[in-house]
Amino acid sequence: MAAEHTTRLTMKTSVAIYPGSFDPVTNGHLDLIGRGEQMFDHLIVAVLKNVDKQALFSVTERVEMLKEVTKKWGSVEIDVFDGLLVDYARRRGAGVILRGIRAISDYEYELQMALMNRKLEPRLETVFMLPGESYSYLSAKLVREIAQLGGPLAGLVPPIVEQRLRSKVS
Ligand code: PNS
Repeated sequence: MAAEHTTRLTMKTSVAIYPGSFDPVTNGHLDLIGRGEQMFDHLIVAVLKNVDKQALFSVTERVEMLKEVTKKWGSVEIDVFDGLLVDYARRRGAGVILRGIRAISDYEYELQMALMNRKLEPRLETVFMLPGESYSYLSAKLVREIAQLGGPLAGLVPPIVEQRLRSKVS
């Protein structure tokens, strides 16, 4: 029998979703996207379309910034979702949810979400990755606060996000 009939080839394509608010994308998010891009065949960065009136940037603006700062990666897609993440993952044929854990303080919330998502869809795995240590203190919330108070943003967000933040709060 020819080898191709006896050898079971696995032709798995790994599709992962990195969901979040990304209000706005930070260098910590980008670090994680870069790591995810190396690990998965296709990485979908999915922006939650929520009715959170507290958001600084519209979903359209967040998507624009994400597209700009990830354009060097051909296998990274930027999308928007609403409703349950597990339903979106099913629609997109994704088997993995990617999330970052910066510090132990993230763990409880992330564990709760991962286990709830597993309860809702047992075939979906959550994979946690650690961003570079230099981003362990970085959050979009703090970035928004620093921008609103006129503080320095260099090194925290990509330059185009810094410009958008400056014009948003001026
Ligand atoms: O960047 P964030 O705000 O920490 O991301 C949170 C996000 C978008 C991953 C989470 O709120 C989410 O998945 N929302 C979609 C609704 C949902 O599926 N809720 C049940 C989660 S267990």
